[in-house]
Amino acid sequence: MYWKRRYGVAALDHCVTIPALVMEEILLMGAKESGVRANLLVENASELITLASDIARPRTASSMRELAIIKGGSVAAFNEHIVAVGDASKVRKEIELTSDAKIINAEDMVVLPGFVDPHTHLVFAGSREGEFIQRAEGKTYLEILKSGGGILSTVKATREAARSRLVALGFKHLDIMMSHGTTTVEIKSGYGLSVDEELKILRVIRELNELHPIDVVGTFMGAHAVPPEYTGNTEGYVGYVIDHMLPAVDKEDLAEFCDVFCEKGIFSISQSRKILKAGLALGFLPKIHADEMVFSGGAELAAEVGAISAEHLMYASNEGIRRMAESGVIAIFLPGASFTLGLQRYADAKAFIEAGCPIALATDFNPGTSPTRSMQFIMNLAALEMKLHPAEIICASTFNAAYALNRGNLVGSLEVGKLADIVIMDVDTYLKIPYQLGINIVDKVIKKGQLVINEGRRVVL
Ligand code: NIG
Ligand code: FE
Repeated sequence: MYWKRRYGVAALDHCVTIPALVMEEILLMGAKESGVRANLLVENASELITLASDIARPRTASSMRELAIIKGGSVAAFNEHIVAVGDASKVRKEIELTSDAKIINAEDMVVLPGFVDPHTHLVFAGSREGEFIQRAEGKTYLEILKSGGGILSTVKATREAARSRLVALGFKHLDIMMSHGTTTVEIKSGYGLSVDEELKILRVIRELNELHPIDVVGTFMGAHAVPPEYTGNTEGYVGYVIDHMLPAVDKEDLAEFCDVFCEKGIFSISQSRKILKAGLALGFLPKIHADEMVFSGGAELAAEVGAISAEHLMYASNEGIRRMAESGVIAIFLPGASFTLGLQRYADAKAFIEAGCPIALATDFNPGTSPTRSMQFIMNLAALEMKLHPAEIICASTFNAAYALNRGNLVGSLEVGKLADIVIMDVDTYLKIPYQLGINIVDKVIKKGQLVINEGRRVVL
C-alpha cells in the first residue's frame, strides 16, 4: 500500500496526521538543547505569511482572509520540518543553529508556504497547439474531441511513448512548476485508457514522486474519455474501468484518489456515480470534474458521494453549491481552462464563498485546456477574472489546496511540525503576488528544508 503507507493515511480519513515519531523528534530537540536545533533559518521577511491558526480543516468564508502575517518574521527548520516561526528576534532566541546551518535573509521579500497544485494532468506525450488555431476558427472543445482530436490525440501520443520518455517529460514539467513556487502536485492518469496504459502512467507518477523534490500525489482517472476501442459503448467502458482498472490500480496502490470526467457527452451522472462508488469501496477518495462545459449535476453528485473535492464548476447550480458546502466538499477552481478555451465564463467563486464552501485553486496543467505550469498565472486569473481577494487566493493555493489533497496537517501553512516547504517571493507585500502579471517573481524555493531554487534557478542538489 504505497501511498497509504507513505503518509499513514487511513483510507477514508480526510486528514493526514504528522507521524508520531517525527513529532517526538521535534519535541525532543527542544528538550535536549537549550534551544531548538535548526539548520535552516529564513529571517527578516517583509511579510511572513504563516496561515497559522487552530483551524484543522479547510477554511471557509472570512477565515480565508486571515493569513496570520508576521512583519519582520522568521521561520526555522531542522531537516525536513519547521521548528520555529515568529518575530525575527524571538526565533533567534528560540533556536540553536547547527554549525552548518543555512541562513537566508528575506528582507524586502514575502515568505509563504510552498504552493500546492491540487489538479493536473501532467503525464502525457505530444502537444496540442493546433487546437488553439481550431478554436480561433470557431470549433469548440467537445467538437474537436468528437472528431478524434483533443484528449484522444494525447491518448495516442501517450500510448506510443515509453515509460522512460514520460518520466523525462514529467520531470521537466515539475522543474518548471517548482521554479514557479509549487512544492506539492497532484497528477491524474487518464491518457492511457486501458489497464496496461493507465498502470504505465500511474507508475510514472510514482517514479516522479521518488525522483523529484516535489511531492507528487497520484489520482486514477481511467474515466477521462472513452477510448477508440469502446466508441459507442460507454457503458461497456465504465464496466471495464470498474471491473479491471480499479482493482489493478488498487493492487499496486498507485493512487489515493479516483476522478471522473462527468460531463454531457462524456460520462453521465449515473456512470460517474458507479465509478466513484466502486473506487470508494476500494479506498480511493472521490474527486470529480463537474459542470465544466454545461450544467449536469456534478456538484450535487460530489456532495452525494462525499467527494473530497469537485473541480471546474463553471456551470454548478446554486443547489449544487449549497450541497457541496453542507458536505464539506472542496471546490477546486481551474481558471486556466476557462481562459484557454475562451469560455468567458469562470466559476462563480463568490457564490461558493458565500455558501460557506471551501475553495482551492489549481493549474489543471494539461496539453488541451490549460497548458500552464504556473500557479502564479492562475493567481492572476483568480484576481482579474474571478475577483477573488489576494488573501483568498493565497489561502486557496496553499492551505485549502493542501486539504484538497488530504495533506492539511503536513503542508499548506508555516507552522511548527509541518514540512519546511517555503517560497520566497521578490515582492514586499503579498498583495503584489496576483498583481504582477506574466513574470515569475519567485526568488527562492525551499522543499523539505532544502534550497531547491535560488535566485529563480534550480539548485543542483
Ligand atoms: O481538466 N476536462 C477534462 N480534462 C482536462 C482536459 C484534458 C485534455 O483536454 O487533454 C481538463 O480540462
Ligand atoms: Fe482536469
